[in-house]
Amino acid sequence: MREQWGSKLGFILAAIGSAVGLGNIWRFPYTAASNGGGAFILPYLFAIITAGIPILILEYTIGKTYRGGAPVALARINSKFEWLGWIQVMVSFVIAVYYFAIVVWVTSYIGFSFGQQWGNDPTSFFTGKFLNMTDSAHNFGGIQTHLLLPFALVWVLVAIILYRGVSKGIELACKICMPILLVFTILLVIRGITLPGAAQGLDYLFSPNWDALKKSDVWIAAYSQVFYSLSIAFAIMISYASYLPKKTDVVNSAFLTATANHGYELFIAIGVFGIMGYMSVQQGVPVNEVAGSGGIGLAFMTFPTAISELPALNTVFGVIFFGTLFTAGVTSLISIFQAVIAGIQDKFDIEHKKATTLILVPSFLLSFLFITGAGLSILDIVDAFINQIGVALGGFIEVILIGWFFNIEKIRSYANEYSNFSVGKWWALCLKIVTVLVLGVMLILNTKTLVTEGYGKYEMFDIKVFGWGALALVFLAAALLTGLKGKSGYKDQPDEGVQLADEEV
Ligand code: ALA
Repeated sequence: MREQWGSKLGFILAAIGSAVGLGNIWRFPYTAASNGGGAFILPYLFAIITAGIPILILEYTIGKTYRGGAPVALARINSKFEWLGWIQVMVSFVIAVYYFAIVVWVTSYIGFSFGQQWGNDPTSFFTGKFLNMTDSAHNFGGIQTHLLLPFALVWVLVAIILYRGVSKGIELACKICMPILLVFTILLVIRGITLPGAAQGLDYLFSPNWDALKKSDVWIAAYSQVFYSLSIAFAIMISYASYLPKKTDVVNSAFLTATANHGYELFIAIGVFGIMGYMSVQQGVPVNEVAGSGGIGLAFMTFPTAISELPALNTVFGVIFFGTLFTAGVTSLISIFQAVIAGIQDKFDIEHKKATTLILVPSFLLSFLFITGAGLSILDIVDAFINQIGVALGGFIEVILIGWFFNIEKIRSYANEYSNFSVGKWWALCLKIVTVLVLGVMLILNTKTLVTEGYGKYEMFDIKVFGWGALALVFLAAALLTGLKGKSGYKDQPDEGVQLADEEV
């Protein structure tokens, strides 16, 4: 019988663990600050209500009803939809490999926090001594041997969790990590807002620029933040929901996941910008200058500087900050891998451990790329292309296929079947019209920019190989996997109409 979560709480914790990740900590605060500050909350809430929660309800319903990883679940809706599942699975596969590398760096930095080993110039330390960055993405510069220990540690941890399976592995890991993450985050936010200068940071984060709302970029930024942050269109939420009993209230679960995820995101942003305000006062420069541009820079350059400048307990706060990234990162990373494992396990009827090996071995080999001197450059390019085109396209095709080529009202009735409060017709309208339009515009604009302007300061060669190349890999592999013969009857509906005894929650 298909594996199941040990309890509904276990599922909710795992889903929140997947959603709350690096994107919440280092992406949200900057996206908000640079896209209208306080005014950003409006497009952000709009994106949550029109796309985030509706797609989460959709993916939970698909997973729970059709009981399979994304390709099998979608094939059971309509045998012609399977390829979409594989596109999402392959997008996740690529993300898993580089997301893994970031968790490795974070692990090293937990160690460096002791005595602030990044010294007086964390930026040069990170790009120089730590990564030994080369001048381009194709100049690998060899494997950085000092990264092998954290690399091995994280691989062992991830492999143990994934081999143990859904309830004994992922659920248990999330039950351990999520409370630690919460405590660390609370400490970080308390520290952030009690530092002198915190008010300036928060002022910078929240002072509204209403004019920003006139720009399409700002609305697109809100939608892409919500997609990445909620782990939707990644095949993840379909696979996680496929381990749910049929009688689960998915509407309530989706609202719970989204509220926890976005609440977390707003909460930690207050801590991050409180600390930025403190740095701005210490260094006598405006908040936007100390804040930099977020992302990798925030974690490995700006924050180490802030940690060194704290008045006391520097090591403790270093461990807390990188511990926050670590726990948030690991619980997201395992969900990304599980989406891929479930994809092949369910189509080819492979035993769980074997499917895990089949995915982890190529991931392991590819992950070496990211601990070379070119690792950060490759990561930066792959991340931009996979997110701006891959995730957006996966989401776009999903809402088109289900919204326009399937009876979405049927999915709505499945969503409402065991839910305390029912979603109305607004749900289908959001998916069929608003989300389709926004994602369509987003895809066209993102593709146009990447085609005409390339990305960052990278050479065209690197952009073609790692950016377009990663996307080509996704589509080719998706076509191949769709074409392969699966176990017999994998497209059949699962236990139609049968109520299993253990399905009560
Ligand atoms: N949802 C995950 C994150 O925010 C992928 O990092």
